[in-house]
Amino acid sequence: MLTAIMKSTGNDQATALPAGPDRLMEKLSAARESSLTRWSGGVLFAGAALAAGMLGYARLVEPMRIELEQITIKLPHLVGRLPAGGVRILQLTDSHFHGGPRTQRERRKIERIAGLTSGLQYDLLVHTGDFIHFDDGLENVLRLLDAVPAPRLGAFGVFGNHDYTHYAMREALPRMWRTFRAEERRRSAVRGPVMRLAVAGTRWLRYVRYVRNTPLDGRRTGSNNTGALAAALSEWGMTVLHNRALHLHQPKEGLDLYLAGIDDMLEGRPHLGDSLCTIPDGAPIVLLSHNPDIIASPQLPCVDVVLSGHTHGGQIVVPLWGPAHTQVEHLPRKHVAGYFRQGRTHVYISRGLGEGIPLRFRACPQITLIHLTCLV
Ligand SMILES: [Fe+2]
Repeated sequence: MLTAIMKSTGNDQATALPAGPDRLMEKLSAARESSLTRWSGGVLFAGAALAAGMLGYARLVEPMRIELEQITIKLPHLVGRLPAGGVRILQLTDSHFHGGPRTQRERRKIERIAGLTSGLQYDLLVHTGDFIHFDDGLENVLRLLDAVPAPRLGAFGVFGNHDYTHYAMREALPRMWRTFRAEERRRSAVRGPVMRLAVAGTRWLRYVRYVRNTPLDGRRTGSNNTGALAAALSEWGMTVLHNRALHLHQPKEGLDLYLAGIDDMLEGRPHLGDSLCTIPDGAPIVLLSHNPDIIASPQLPCVDVVLSGHTHGGQIVVPLWGPAHTQVEHLPRKHVAGYFRQGRTHVYISRGLGEGIPLRFRACPQITLIHLTCLV
């Protein structure tokens, strides 16, 4: 190796010989640096490619992968109130139709749902809110309702917060930072200097936890025409059940069930007392509530089944971390989607079929066929 270096430095041996070890070290160091640069460049490239791939999947693939989930809820105490074959409810929720530039993408979703439900026989069609994101989405709402087979007993719905309101969701995180800091400053006023240092050191971690556990606080920027939405649904044949209930009564078939609904808890005028006041004590009740925070109501034990949406199943579910956020205050994170019991009440939360921000990761969109049966 030394010989090679001497050759490369020409005939000036007086300078070549003493400089040899230094040059060797330089070359080794340069080789090491170049290899490190190549390695870190490779890692960066792989990371960027992975991030781009995941973003593409979350933007283009997963939001279109609508699934039909089928669940059975057993209500043995309803013997004599449900037909022998039970009651089948097709739940749609959170379609979030925008119309405009998203029209074609939304129509591909509707085609997918038409395929999933083709030939389906069931009793009740329900939509648990966030029909639209913007008024322009109304046309696709009607297309969606036309695309699923007609229910045997009727179609019912309740509004969600997005049916009422537009939000500037880009402003949500900065607004939440300001709220978080204001709360922190209020508490810091009564803390000593050591405690304040500890608080500063863990600030970002606590802010992330705050965001994770708090509904996103997007500024309200406008509203939808809910009158037009209600009129269009009514004309189509869907009954909007805001703070009221209907008696589904078919004595010959053994059906004696109350279907109740509540207006949205964030933007509407919800009143569960009004929803339930006409229902006789002990009668079976299925409640439609866009927002699953209804489970915190003291009147919940009167209700047999709650069907909700709103959470989108977290929409972005981060490995080892869980849902990026849940959009609710009273729902445990582990129940962000799916079936669970809250006391005697059976609760089912659908991930919904649409989204506002067009990204989903590990929270596929869905529609659900819920089979209520009194058989054990
Ligand atoms: Fe929603």
